[in-house]
Amino acid sequence: MTHPKIAPSLLAADFARLAAEIDKVAAGGADFLHLDVMDGHFVPNISFGLPVIESVRKVTEMELDTHLMLVDPVPFIPAFKEAGSDSLTVHAELSDPGAVLAAIRDHDLKCGLAVNPGTPVAALFPHLEQLDLALVMSVEPGFGGQAFQPQALDKVRTLAAEIAHRGLDLPIQIDGGINADNAADCRSAGAQLLVAGSAVFRAPDPAQAIAVLRG
Ligand code: DX5
Ligand code: ZN
Repeated sequence: MTHPKIAPSLLAADFARLAAEIDKVAAGGADFLHLDVMDGHFVPNISFGLPVIESVRKVTEMELDTHLMLVDPVPFIPAFKEAGSDSLTVHAELSDPGAVLAAIRDHDLKCGLAVNPGTPVAALFPHLEQLDLALVMSVEPGFGGQAFQPQALDKVRTLAAEIAHRGLDLPIQIDGGINADNAADCRSAGAQLLVAGSAVFRAPDPAQAIAVLRG
């Protein structure tokens, strides 16, 4: 098994010291930076948006993996591209995810599709050929620091089998409550992109935390 890539979620960083926080995880070996954008409608919380991404873009070369928890992402795609996002991940729970994915690709951005804990993983299947990553949520989206829901592992296994069956080269991302206790299970289930907020940014030694998640 190859080692997974690690994407620290900025949601758990100290927002008053973003540049230093980003440097800390980049120096610690992070592969991507995961940016959780929330609109207060798709999820019951509001995080940060375009001006923050624009500022983050200026202080890091890391790929900006942007997780959009928005009811209506399409009108904002050009602005996310302009701000510096490299990939946009949207949710299968949207009314027409295929159209949103097509709009993202039209703007030459990488695209991802996510399923919430209550959504069957098969909701991703009609779109797999269009994706650059497939995201299985292991918590209800909206808040960092929640407990990992182990049922997500079965979804990752099912998805990995479907991807292999179709002969696709599509990485599976898992997001929510990932830490040193469950990272090995995530990896062996077939997740290749591990998102971790609290377990990295709140660790006394983020480099060590990243190394442990990577396995
Ligand atoms: C939840 C977000 C996650 C979250 C992960 O809506 O999608 O990316 O920030 O944070 P932890 O790792 O603390 O669960
Ligand atoms: Zn996320």
